[in-house]
Amino acid sequence: MAELAINGATPVRTNPYPRWPVWDDSERSGLLDVLDSGDWWATEGTKVGEFEEAWGRFHRTGPAAAVTNGTHAIELALTAVGVGEGDEVIVPAWSFLATASAVLMVNAVPVFVDVDPRNGCIDVAAVGAAITERTRAVAVVHVAGSVADMDALTELCTRRDLAIVEDCAHAHGSTWKGLPVATLGDAGTFSFQHSKLMTAGEGGAVVSRRPEVIEEVSSLADCGRRPGRWFYSHYILGGNYRLTEWQAAVLLAQLERFPDQQARRSANADHLNKALAEIPGVEPQWRDPRCTSQGNYCYVVRVRPEEFGAGREQVRLALEAEGIPLTMSYPPLHHLEAFLDPDGFAPRYRNRAGMQDFGSLDLPVVKALADETLWFKTSVLMGDRSDCDDVVTAVNRIHRHASELADLEVAEPGTGGRR
Ligand SMILES: Cc1ncc(COP(=O)(O)O)c(C=O)c1O
Repeated sequence: MAELAINGATPVRTNPYPRWPVWDDSERSGLLDVLDSGDWWATEGTKVGEFEEAWGRFHRTGPAAAVTNGTHAIELALTAVGVGEGDEVIVPAWSFLATASAVLMVNAVPVFVDVDPRNGCIDVAAVGAAITERTRAVAVVHVAGSVADMDALTELCTRRDLAIVEDCAHAHGSTWKGLPVATLGDAGTFSFQHSKLMTAGEGGAVVSRRPEVIEEVSSLADCGRRPGRWFYSHYILGGNYRLTEWQAAVLLAQLERFPDQQARRSANADHLNKALAEIPGVEPQWRDPRCTSQGNYCYVVRVRPEEFGAGREQVRLALEAEGIPLTMSYPPLHHLEAFLDPDGFAPRYRNRAGMQDFGSLDLPVVKALADETLWFKTSVLMGDRSDCDDVVTAVNRIHRHASELADLEVAEPGTGGRR
C-alpha cells in the first residue's frame, strides 16, 4: 500500500499555508489617500518621500532611494558606486539573474565565482582569486537572508579598493553583528516584488550609509535631474526609474507589519532548523553566528541523496504532493541560455571578448546547491508551530518511504517548472 501522497496516500496536509502577500485596511486606506489626493506620481506626492525616510530609518541611515524594482536598484547602485564600461564585477553564480544582468546592463562584465557550501553566499576566497586590474566591484547576495561573510569581504575590498554592492533582495531585516545589511558595503539594494518579505507587487530601493551614493541614485532614477533645480535641467544621463505613490503607500503599511512578521518567521525557522537536522541526509542552511538576524526569505535545506534515500527533485515533487509549498532553486547563472548562447547578450553586447567562457566554467558548489537544495516558500514560516511541524512530518515520511520514489522520473534539475 502506498505510504506517500505522490503515490495515492492521504497528504500530510490539505489546508493551505497562510496566504502571501498579507494586507489589511492599512494598505487600503493608504491607497485611498493617494487616490483622493490626485497626486499619483512621486514628483508631486508625499508617500514615496515618506517611505524613503522610513526605509532609511529602518537601516539607521539617511533616506533611501526608492526605485522601480530590485533589478533597476542594482543597476543604479552599480553606476552610483562608479561601475561603468569595461569594468569587471565579481558576482556569485547562485542568485537570481538580476545580480548578473544588472552588471551587463551598465556595460560592465560579470565574473562568476563559487559560493560557500554552508549558506550559498559568495565565497570570499574565490573573490580574492578572481580580482584583476579591471575589477571595480563585488556584488554580494545574502541568500535566503543568511548574510555572507562581510568581515572578510570588507577587509579584502578595502585592501584592493573595490566597491561592495549588497543585493539584499532576500534579506529585509537581516543584520551582521547588529548592523543592518545594505549598510555594510557601499550600497545595498532591495526588491519589493510580489514574493519578497515586503511587497507592493513590484518596487525596489537603494540604501547606503554614503549620502552621495543615494543622491546619485535618486538623480539617475529621475532622468538625471537634481533636487530643487529647474524641471527640464538634466545634469547626468539618467532614466525614469521612479516608484509610484501607490506602491509607496502599500510599502509604508507593509513596513509597519514587518517586525512582528519577522519575529514569527525567525522563531519558526529556528524550530525547523533543529527538527529537520535530525533527519538523515537533511542539512538546513547554515547561519553564520555573526548573522545576528536572518530575514527569512524562503527556507532552504540541502538534501544529500545517498543519506536521504532519494534525490532533491523526487523529494520536491513528493513534498508538493504532501501539501507543502515549494519554489525552485536558482540554476547556475552561468549556465542560463543567455550566457551559453554566443548571441545571448545581443543586441546589447555583440562582442564578448575578455568574458569568461561560461559553458566550460566549473563552479562545483553552485552546481551541487542548485541540484540538491529545497526552497520552501516563505509561507511555511508565516503560520504557527503546527504548520512547521507538518513540514517536518512530511519530510520524515518521505525519508522513511524513500524507496517508493525509486522509479519516479524527474526532469533534469534546473529545467522546467514554475516558481
Ligand atoms: C537575489 C535577487 N536579486 C534581484 C532580484 C530582482 O528584483 P526585482 O524582481 O524586483 O527586479 C531578485 C528578485 O526577483 C532576487 O531574488
